[in-house]
Amino acid sequence: MEIPRSVVFEDGILRILDQTLLPGREVYLECTSVSQVIKAIRELSVRGAPAIGIAAAYAMILGLESCSDDQSGLRNEVLARAAQLKAARPTAVNLCWAVDRMLDNAESFFDLQWSQSGPEPGQTGQRLAGILKDAADLIYEEDKKACQAIGENAWQLVARYPQVLTHCNAGSLAVSELGTALAPIYLASQRGVPVHVYVDETRPLLQGSRLTAFELGRRGVDCTLISDNMAAHVMALGRVDLVIVGADRVAANGDAANKIGTLNLAILCKHFDIPFYVACPCSTIDLDTETGSGIEIEERAAEEVRQVLGQPTAPVDVAVFNPAFDVTPAALITGLITEKGIIDRPSYQRLRVFESSSG
Ligand code: MRU
Repeated sequence: MEIPRSVVFEDGILRILDQTLLPGREVYLECTSVSQVIKAIRELSVRGAPAIGIAAAYAMILGLESCSDDQSGLRNEVLARAAQLKAARPTAVNLCWAVDRMLDNAESFFDLQWSQSGPEPGQTGQRLAGILKDAADLIYEEDKKACQAIGENAWQLVARYPQVLTHCNAGSLAVSELGTALAPIYLASQRGVPVHVYVDETRPLLQGSRLTAFELGRRGVDCTLISDNMAAHVMALGRVDLVIVGADRVAANGDAANKIGTLNLAILCKHFDIPFYVACPCSTIDLDTETGSGIEIEERAAEEVRQVLGQPTAPVDVAVFNPAFDVTPAALITGLITEKGIIDRPSYQRLRVFESSSG
């Protein structure tokens, strides 16, 4: 069975699969305004670094064709949308990366408008919307190709180490299609490798049990759900020979921010001598952030920890710390799997060499 697409743009409407309702119900939110998309990003209806970038790119277009025809009014509108969207969640760099690409396209349009006589009155918003739609489609298509290439670059790794453990959801639901960490698993499985995946439940919001287990099931990949605190035991039993996770931002020195609990796994892998890989498109690598300590870690509402799926599981007033991500130091990462190849033992030096050699 197919996995539903996380984001679909059709007839000027951005349809966002409400991932908070999975695996029980497949419902699309019909977004026609930027504020609806920001709400969907904040509430994790759409989540996963590449998917929120794609959703934000399409949000830049919503209703633009009927906006003011006055050039500076339109430009202010575009700049305001960009600022609001970028502030929706702080950790995943793909969000800012995608919005900045849309802004670059908008700025080129405005430069051209100012240097020429411009289109007929009443058409400026419409023309800009058309150009930005093409730019958002390109971001989507590039992400799709990057995911496929990530899968191609690492499926043999899965063939060699077919007992995999993953954390959170870095699959089809977190991107355009296919996934990052799950892409090599899907390709290996399609090519006859007897893959088995241990799926970390991923407290507090259960992206592992609700989303990854759902996806793997849809694609017929053999998997077993465990709660996060079982990973060490499962490794001690010799049932894991590879860990692959996604990333929200990779710093210039190779430190990688990903879903809270990823660092635990990286430390366990060092103890048990299990390869620990991070898979992400190059749009997740942020060379402007030198090390992981410069990555802003989102802190979310206390209720997410005091409750499980809306049911209280703790005293209502207990103090809570709820960081959504942690940072794995580069020294614990065996390799960074990207669409352009695998960077072994990532470091500042190796990322620079990789960047200059891969173009
Ligand atoms: O809070 P979420 O669900 O957006 O966190 C998602 C993750 O941590 C993913 O592993 C990451 O974004 C990579 S998605 C390909």
